[in-house]
Amino acid sequence: MARLNLLEETRYEKLAVTVYPDQQTASKKVAARIADVIRGKQASGEKAVLGLATGVTPIRVYNELVRLHKEEGLSFKNVITFNLDEYYPMKPDAAQSYVTFMYENLFSHIDIEKANVHIPDGTLAADDVAEWCLNYEKQIEALGGLDLQILGIGRTGHIGFNEPGSAPNSGTRLVTLDDLTRADAARDFGGKANVPTKAITMGVGTIFKAREIILMAWSKKKAPIIKKAIEGEISGEVPATYLQLSDNVEFVLDEDAASDLTRFDTPWLVKDCIWDTQLKKKAVIWLACELKKPILKLTEEDYNTHGMAQLAVEQGPVYNINIDIFNQIQHTITGWPGGKPGADDSQRPERMEPAKKRSIVFSPHPDDDVISMGGTFIRLVDQGHDVHVAYQTSGNTAVWDDDVLRYMEFAIDFEGSIGKDNSQLKSIYDDMRQFIEAKQPNQIDTKEIRDVKGFIRKTEAISGARYAGLQDDHIHFMALPFYETGKTQKNSVGEEDIRLTIELLQKVKPQQIFAAGDFADPHGTHVVCFNIIVAALERLKATEDWVNDCWLWMYRGAWHEFETHEIEMAVPLSPQEVVRKRNAIFKHQSQKDRPVFPGDDAREFWVRAEDRNRETAKRYDDLGLAEYEAMEAFVRYKF
Ligand code: F6R
Repeated sequence: MARLNLLEETRYEKLAVTVYPDQQTASKKVAARIADVIRGKQASGEKAVLGLATGVTPIRVYNELVRLHKEEGLSFKNVITFNLDEYYPMKPDAAQSYVTFMYENLFSHIDIEKANVHIPDGTLAADDVAEWCLNYEKQIEALGGLDLQILGIGRTGHIGFNEPGSAPNSGTRLVTLDDLTRADAARDFGGKANVPTKAITMGVGTIFKAREIILMAWSKKKAPIIKKAIEGEISGEVPATYLQLSDNVEFVLDEDAASDLTRFDTPWLVKDCIWDTQLKKKAVIWLACELKKPILKLTEEDYNTHGMAQLAVEQGPVYNINIDIFNQIQHTITGWPGGKPGADDSQRPERMEPAKKRSIVFSPHPDDDVISMGGTFIRLVDQGHDVHVAYQTSGNTAVWDDDVLRYMEFAIDFEGSIGKDNSQLKSIYDDMRQFIEAKQPNQIDTKEIRDVKGFIRKTEAISGARYAGLQDDHIHFMALPFYETGKTQKNSVGEEDIRLTIELLQKVKPQQIFAAGDFADPHGTHVVCFNIIVAALERLKATEDWVNDCWLWMYRGAWHEFETHEIEMAVPLSPQEVVRKRNAIFKHQSQKDRPVFPGDDAREFWVRAEDRNRETAKRYDDLGLAEYEAMEAFVRYKF
C-alpha cells in the first residue's frame, strides 16, 4: 500500500516526488543520503548493501561520493555493491561496458574492496546465464537484501533494463533491449548497429525488495516518461509505474524532468494560482487546445469546467480575457523580423529603428541557421539588413567517412588535371583509406580526416549562406575549440571560446542576434554554444554601449519547438519561402538522406523543419488566428 498523499497539489502523483532546482543540487542530496546509509551501517559495525545504476543520470552523484571520500573521509570499506545491469555480450574492459563505467566514475576513486563489487557478467556462455542470475539474487538475499537502490529511467519507462512488458515479479535475467533504448545508447557505441541487442538486468521484483529506492531523472528529455511513471496507471507498458506500489520509493527530479507533472504544467487543475500574464496565456491556449476551439469562442462554462474558474472570477468576463490573449498572440506575428521601417512598433516584436539592422545569426553546427530559421534568414537579407552568419563549430564529427574519400579523390584528380604533382595528396589519401578501413566504432579520426570533414561542412555552409543572399565576407567560421575533440564528448568551454565570440561581436556590433536556444539537441552542443554567446555579451556589456541596444532572439532547431505561449515572434513563410528554405537546407549534402547523428527522428532535417514550421502555423490557425503556410518561432532572451 503506497503512503498516503495528503496534498491537493500532488493529487495526480501516485508516489513520493521531490523536485530540486537543478541536477547538481539534487545529486548532492542523493549522495548525502547514500553517505548516511553507509555511515549508519558503519556505526553499528554492519555492511551497507547498495544497488547502483549506470548512465548519465547518476554521474554527478558518483562525483559527489568521490568528493565525500576524498575531502570528508567517507569510507567505502563496509560497502557491498550490486549493479543493476550489463550489456550482453560485453567484455568488461570494453569502453562501453558498465564495468568500465563504474570504475571510471566511482570505484577507482574510492576505497571499496574489489571483492565487494558485483556487476552482471557480460562474458557468460549463454547456457550459464540463468544459473548465474539466480546466484546474483541469492547473493543479495544472503546479505539481507539491498539497503538502498538508486535508479535512472529510460525513455521507454525501463528501470534497470526492464523494458515494457516486464513483469512486476521478474528477477535477474537476460532480456532483449527495446529499440529506443538501443537508439539512446547509439552514441556510446558509435552507431545503433553496434549496440548489443541484449542485457542482463536485475528484475523489477529484485529492485522492489530494496529497503529504499531512489529514482532520479534530469532534463526535459525525461519529462514525458516521468509524467507517465508518476501520474499514469500501473502497467507493464511503463515498468517504472510498478514503483507506485512501493512505500519505500522516492522520485528525485530536477525542474525540467518534473515540468510535465500536472502541478507544474497545468497548475490551475490542482491549486489556486497567481495569474500573471504568462500563466494566463498558457492556460487559455491550453483550454482552446483541449476543447479544440478557437480562443474567441471559449465560454465561461469552458473556464469553470476546466479548473479556470478562479481566473474567470478574478479577471473576467472571460470574453475580455480571450480578447486580451488573442491580441497578445496576434502581436507576435510579423513578416518583418528585423522590424518594420516607419511602422508603429509599440505592439510589434522588433523595433523599427534602426531601419537597417546589423544582425548576426549564430549557428552552432554549420546547418542550424537554415534548418531552424532559414525563412527568417532569407527575409532579413531580402529586407536589406546587414546580416552576418557565424558558424560556431566545425561540425566535423557528423560527416561520413566515405565522403572524405570522395572529396580527396576529387582533389587528387584536380591536381592531376592541371598538371601538378599529386603524389603527396595520394599518399595522404592512402593513409586515410587504410585508417578508415580498420576504424573501430567511435575511434577518433586522424587530424587530416577531421580537417577534411570540417572543410566539407564549411563549403556546404558557404553554399547555403550564399543561397540566402550573403556576401562571402559576412560568413564567419569560428571553429570554437571546445568542440574539437573528434568525438561526441566535448571539452569544457574555455577562455578562447569566449574570446573568439567577443572578437566577432565587437567587429559587427549587432543590433540583433539570433542564436540556437534549442537545448534538447542530443549532444548538448547548442546549449554550450548559447552560453558562450551570453557569457561574451555579459562581459561586453560592462564596456560597450551598443550591447544594451542589442536584442538576442532564440530559435529552435531540428529537435523541438517552443510551446505556443512562449513564442514572442512568429515569422510567417509563404509557400515560395518554404521552398527557398528547403533549397538552402539541401546545400548541406553531407547531412542529407541519412546523417551520422539523426537523433531518434527518422525524417530528414528538411522534412522535420517543414513539418515543424507547418505545425506552428497550424497551432496559430487552430487558435483562431490567420492561416499561414508555415511559421518560424522565436523567443527573446534578456541578458
Ligand atoms: C542503467 C540502467 C538504465 C538507466 C536508464 C537511464 O544501469 O539500468 O535503466 O538508468 O536507461 O539512462 P541515462 O541515465 O543514461 O539517461
